[in-house]
Formats: sequence, structure tokens, C-alpha cells
Amino acid sequence: MSAPASPEPLRVAVFASGRGSNLQALHQAARRGELPVHIIGVFSDKAGSGAIAYAKTHGLTHSALDPKNFLDRDAFDAALMQAAAAVHPQLIVCAGFMRIISEAGIQHAPCPMINIHPSLLPKYPGLRTHARALEAGDAEHGASVHRVEPVLDGGRILSQAKIAVLPDDSVDALAERVLRIEHPLLIATVRAIAEGRIAMNEAADTRVSWLNHRLELE
Ligand code: GRF
Repeated sequence: MSAPASPEPLRVAVFASGRGSNLQALHQAARRGELPVHIIGVFSDKAGSGAIAYAKTHGLTHSALDPKNFLDRDAFDAALMQAAAAVHPQLIVCAGFMRIISEAGIQHAPCPMINIHPSLLPKYPGLRTHARALEAGDAEHGASVHRVEPVLDGGRILSQAKIAVLPDDSVDALAERVLRIEHPLLIATVRAIAEGRIAMNEAADTRVSWLNHRLELE
């Protein structure tokens, strides 16, 4: 008797503007067979980004749209969503996508979108999160994965991971330690979505506190 067929991998598109370490973490986890996901496209606003370089090196479908070639934000976002829709994603992961997506853009997304943000939301939406945590004298800092909704870094929080702020932390040292927990947090969250443990419909309240317990230990 043959083994039951495993379910189809979740079709994931990644939006990224920067070095692409979260993209890489997702892709490598999928390649190791630890994440039932197929990365079907990488989309960027920066042709020279590390994320696009990684996609090229690893033969991933990719596309970089230059915002300068569009009349306004809505036109850019419409083109971005059209490009993403063409690969038929079931989930869009914003992993260091450094542009605000307009409300119209979010509404035209072909599937649910999530974002990884380097703070314990609702603390510190926006930029300079590590510096702000240090300036505030916070004892803890971390990262959050949330749904993308038309409020900057304000969509429903799906998962969080915390680390302790150390007495002599610098912005760079803190950012480096947060990045190290971002990767397992994002992988675990996308896995939970792919396996149906986090529902992406509006009705469900599916914040996964178990992740905290697993990742808080650092
Ligand atoms: C990460 O810190 C992520 O939380 C933030 O941007 C950074 C992207 O890093 N949104 P990378 O490009 O994935 O290395």
C-alpha cells in the first residue's frame, strides 16, 4: 500500500526590499523539508537588494518594480499586486518590505498578507525600533508577525518572540539578536499557517502564544 500523499505545499510569495535574510530562512527551511511551503515568487522595490540577488542565485521567480516608474503609490501597488497575482500565491509574506502599501493595494492583494516587524507590537510601529526600545529602557524587546491591514504595523498580531535587553546593549547588538529570533519565529508562524493551525480568516482570533513559550527561552 502506498503512503498517503502529503498535502500540496502552500504557495508563498515574498515581498522584500533589503538583505533578504528572512526570505533565505524561509527558503532554506522549505528546502530542508521543514516547512510545507513553495516560494513561488520574490517581489521587490529594489532591483539591487540582497533578496533579489538571493532569488536569482537560487532560481526563484522574481521581479523588481522601480517606484520611480509609477505615477503614484496606488499605481505602484496595483502593479505589484498584479505581478504577485500572476504567480497565484496563497500567502504573501512581507519580510523587510520597506514601503507602505496603500489601503487600495492591500484590498487588491490576491491573498492574505503577513509582515514581520522587529518589535513587540503594539510597541514601536514604524522605524528605529531597536533604538526606541533602548531609549525607553525596556527590559524586553523582540519581533512580531502580524496580518497586513490598512494600519501601519497595526494588523492582528499572530505571533511574537521576546529577548531580554542587556545592560550594555547597542542598537546593532540588539538588532542582531532580534534578527536571530525573527527567522525561527517567521518559519514557525508560516508553518502554522500552512498546517492550518493559524486561520487567516477575519473571524478567527488565532494568536499563537505557544510560540512565545518556545522562543522566549533565549
Ligand atoms: C527585519 O528586521 C524585519 O523584521 C524588518 O526588516 C528586516 C528585514 O531583514 N521588517 P531581512 O531583509 O529579512 O534580512
